[in-house]
Amino acid sequence: MTILLTGGTGKTATPLAKLLPKGQHSRTIGHPEGVRFDWLDASTYRIPFDADDNIDRVYLVAPAIIDVFPPMKAFIDFAIQKGVKRFVLMSATMLKEGGPMMGKVHEYLHSCEVDYCALRPSWFFDNLLLHYSDTIRKHDEIVNAAGSGLIGWISTDDIADVAFKAFTDKVIEHTNPVMVGPELLSYAQIAQIMSDVFGRKITHRTISADEYKKIVVRRGFPEEWAALVSATDLSIAEGAEEKVFKQADFMGERRLRDFIESYRDAEEWKSV
Ligand SMILES: NC(=O)c1ccc[n+]([C@@H]2O[C@H](COP(=O)([O-])OP(=O)(O)OC[C@H]3O[C@@H](n4cnc5c(N)ncnc54)[C@H](OP(=O)(O)O)[C@@H]3O)[C@@H](O)[C@H]2O)c1
Repeated sequence: MTILLTGGTGKTATPLAKLLPKGQHSRTIGHPEGVRFDWLDASTYRIPFDADDNIDRVYLVAPAIIDVFPPMKAFIDFAIQKGVKRFVLMSATMLKEGGPMMGKVHEYLHSCEVDYCALRPSWFFDNLLLHYSDTIRKHDEIVNAAGSGLIGWISTDDIADVAFKAFTDKVIEHTNPVMVGPELLSYAQIAQIMSDVFGRKITHRTISADEYKKIVVRRGFPEEWAALVSATDLSIAEGAEEKVFKQADFMGERRLRDFIESYRDAEEWKSV
């Protein structure tokens, strides 16, 4: 058995790779033992299979584009033809089977003669390092359009545990697990935890979805992507993630406070 991890340098494949047997049994794209692969360049699809002809399971992390289906379908078809029998797809709480983006990929996997699991996690702890560091460092504040909406923040280590089981269990227990962390927290509550841990006052400021979209565009993201990010914040403000929390199939154990404490001295959060 060889498990191919796409998105090998990313937030979820990294802890997943640590759980997998070393050497020939796992191949992590982007890691030292990794190989070149580009979703948007079909000529690279064969490279992992040329490097290891035992690949029979694949972890799918979509490229950061809106229309993920065409390249993902093309690669799934190619991988099945190469003997892949099981896929684990990184999707999201809000993306139901048949819905937009990975929802369509989920639906396609369901229609294929393969085992599959579409992971549907809530928001990752790591977002707090990646998306909000600029304003935390410069102005001691988290700025977005999520209002007082609550989120069941989840650790990527908890996600990796579920992904690992989906790869290694004889029969996949749940093909569509909605996954959350152990507590619902708003951005204001997170700012309070950060204030306690950092020893300086951090606040949360809500702006309109339109203003937030402009900020995301200024950070260099395409207009369409920025619209998606700000619309997602609005749905959080309206309680979408809180609703999902109450119907989740899996609850992780790791707590956000512990994550923030473990990154207390991270450059991303240091005051400038
Ligand atoms: N963040 C959240 O809170 C959250 C919540 C639920 C679901 N999700 C979903 O999780 C997925 C992201 O997973 P992640 O956080 O593990 O990954 P990530 O940290 O965002 O990293 C993306 C990975 O994909 C690779 N990649 C980007 N473009 C590529 C391309 N054209 N061809 C091949 N590889 C490419 C990157 O490689 P390089 O390092 O070479 O760029 C990187 O390894 C997204 O689909 C997102 O919607 C995220």
